Amino acid sequence: MIGAGNIGSQVARAAIASRYNVVISNSRGPETLADLVSELGPRARAGTVEEAASAGDLVVIAIPLRAMGDVPSEPLGGKTVIDTNNYYPRRDGNIAALDDGSTTSSELLQGRLPGANVVKAFNHIYARQIASDATPPGTRDRRALAIAGDDASAKAKVAELIDGFGFDVVDIGPLAESWRIQPGTPAYVQRMNAEELTAALAAAERQS
Ligand SMILES: NC(=O)c1ccc[n+]([C@@H]2O[C@H](COP(=O)([O-])OP(=O)(O)OC[C@H]3O[C@@H](n4cnc5c(N)ncnc54)[C@H](OP(=O)(O)O)[C@@H]3O)[C@@H](O)[C@H]2O)c1
Repeated sequence: MIGAGNIGSQVARAAIASRYNVVISNSRGPETLADLVSELGPRARAGTVEEAASAGDLVVIAIPLRAMGDVPSEPLGGKTVIDTNNYYPRRDGNIAALDDGSTTSSELLQGRLPGANVVKAFNHIYARQIASDATPPGTRDRRALAIAGDDASAKAKVAELIDGFGFDVVDIGPLAESWRIQPGTPAYVQRMNAEELTAALAAAERQS
């Protein structure tokens, strides 16, 4: 985990409930994560960002967009990297290539991490709902989450993770289509089952 705030800590909790081991990091250093690690239990330990990036088979990036320049590229080579990011210009500052719709925030991250396989996921659910909305496979009206990515095997790994966390999965397609789930689109932070989510993704209109 790179990022231990709202979304990073909740994904870490769900991962541990799914019996993954977690190395979690933030900007201030491992010693500031003692309380969280103690709460997460023996499957968790704190590390530096470099350590978390090196340790993970799956690496989750849950830091503000403006901090993406700090993510180390080299240790992420060949890995599946989950991008939880959203672009909020008021919070993140204006980025021209996002404002004019010529790219997406996940493609920007993929460009920074050329050796990694970036998969967009968890960006359109409130962090606390990762625990509260989880249900077993086959549950009627089970909530669905969207993924987007350019590498099929990386997406398959993330889909398996999400199903294990308690959600159906809808594949949007490549990262270039990930705008369909960005803030302001019909499915953003809405509770939907797979059928509803599929329809909402198809109905999304690019805003810029
Ligand atoms: N909150 C949600 O419900 C939610 C849901 C889906 C997606 N998202 C998206 O996920 C991203 C993170 O949101 P959040 O709500 O989790 O943010 P947050 O609660 O503010 O947490 C941000 C985390 O990133 C860490 N961080 C900041 N700069 C860093 C750097 N340069 N290197 C390493 N770690 C750094 C922070 O560490 P320090 O505390 O040490 O600075 C903190 O642990 C945003 O793009 C957000 O839109 C959020």
